[in-house]
Amino acid sequence: MGNTFSQFFFIPTAPLTEKNCPDQTGRVFIVTGGYVGVGFELSKILYTHNATVYIAGRSTSKAEKAISGIKKAASASKGHVEFLHLDLSDLSTIKPAVESFNAKQQRLDVLVNNAAVMYPPEGSTDAQGHDLQVGTNCLGPYLLYQLLLPTLTRTASSSPTASVRVAWAASVGVHVASPQPHGVVIDDDGKPTDQGVKPNYSQTKVGNVFFAREFAKTTPQTGVVHAAFNPGNLRTELQRHWTGIDHWVTDTFILHPPIHGAYTELWAALAPELTPDRSGAYVYPWGRLGDLPAGIENAVKGGIAAKFVQWCGKQTEAFA
Ligand SMILES: NC(=O)c1ccc[n+]([C@@H]2O[C@H](COP(=O)([O-])OP(=O)(O)OC[C@H]3O[C@@H](n4cnc5c(N)ncnc54)[C@H](OP(=O)(O)O)[C@@H]3O)[C@@H](O)[C@H]2O)c1
Repeated sequence: MGNTFSQFFFIPTAPLTEKNCPDQTGRVFIVTGGYVGVGFELSKILYTHNATVYIAGRSTSKAEKAISGIKKAASASKGHVEFLHLDLSDLSTIKPAVESFNAKQQRLDVLVNNAAVMYPPEGSTDAQGHDLQVGTNCLGPYLLYQLLLPTLTRTASSSPTASVRVAWAASVGVHVASPQPHGVVIDDDGKPTDQGVKPNYSQTKVGNVFFAREFAKTTPQTGVVHAAFNPGNLRTELQRHWTGIDHWVTDTFILHPPIHGAYTELWAALAPELTPDRSGAYVYPWGRLGDLPAGIENAVKGGIAAKFVQWCGKQTEAFA
């Protein structure tokens, strides 16, 4: 209970912000969904501190607007920001995006799997017919990571320890709104079962926790450090499908400006506290280590997480 409360209220000041972000000259980042909301604020901070930032997403017009805003806000930057076209709800778009990235860049220091969809209309599916939230929030990011892993691993081999990272977007839904006791209800194949639109969203966020924890097992070989994070409760486009009193109450009392979520992501991407032995850690707002619910820890220990990750592998292998 205390762990949940501390993600909503009396949140400690962000340790890493636009004010003290270290110089990122020469470092390359991909931020999915980096043209609005939390991802936009993160991309702006990174670019301001001279990073090369690829904003990955599906809307060229949103990306162009964001990129011009970012460049205007940080005209002294020596960094680089550009758009990388991909649609996480269509697995066939991901390999071409990675090929186009690899044609331009030799390295990738940090992949921030920030993009997600929440509460779309019941029955929405991705291009391959998967539940839209599962496709966009889990299968797309899974495939993107797998295809970028060789570049991440190569970068890690010639970079400071624990500086090459993958950050996975979770949510306070992991603690408060995911199916009990394991955070997901999978079938015999490892597929998350339909629990209704709202619990399904939380299941996908638990899926991202599972990614961080399962892939952390490979950190000793790859040198790539993983973290899952709850960015905090932020006023963004994520609530685009919300309606009614719920929306008013939450918007009025709980939601913070999106830059606070970017501080959480910045911490997951850069904080020195995330050492290789802490790979797979869970990050609370606005950047601190936090515990997961016991049932989710048990799902990791008991093989449910591994089974889910394996299922993601099977669904995406034809597109790898
Ligand atoms: N806001 C919160 O309170 C909150 C709380 C907990 C967790 N989170 C998590 O934090 C992350 C950022 O959320 P946010 O609040 O910044 O949300 P947001 O403003 O809705 O931004 C989400 C981003 O994801 C992108 N996206 C959605 N579907 C996509 C697709 N098929 N392919 C590529 N990109 C796609 C969106 O692009 P389009 O505009 O093109 O759709 C947008 O850029 C998400 O993972 C979310 O689950 C947010």
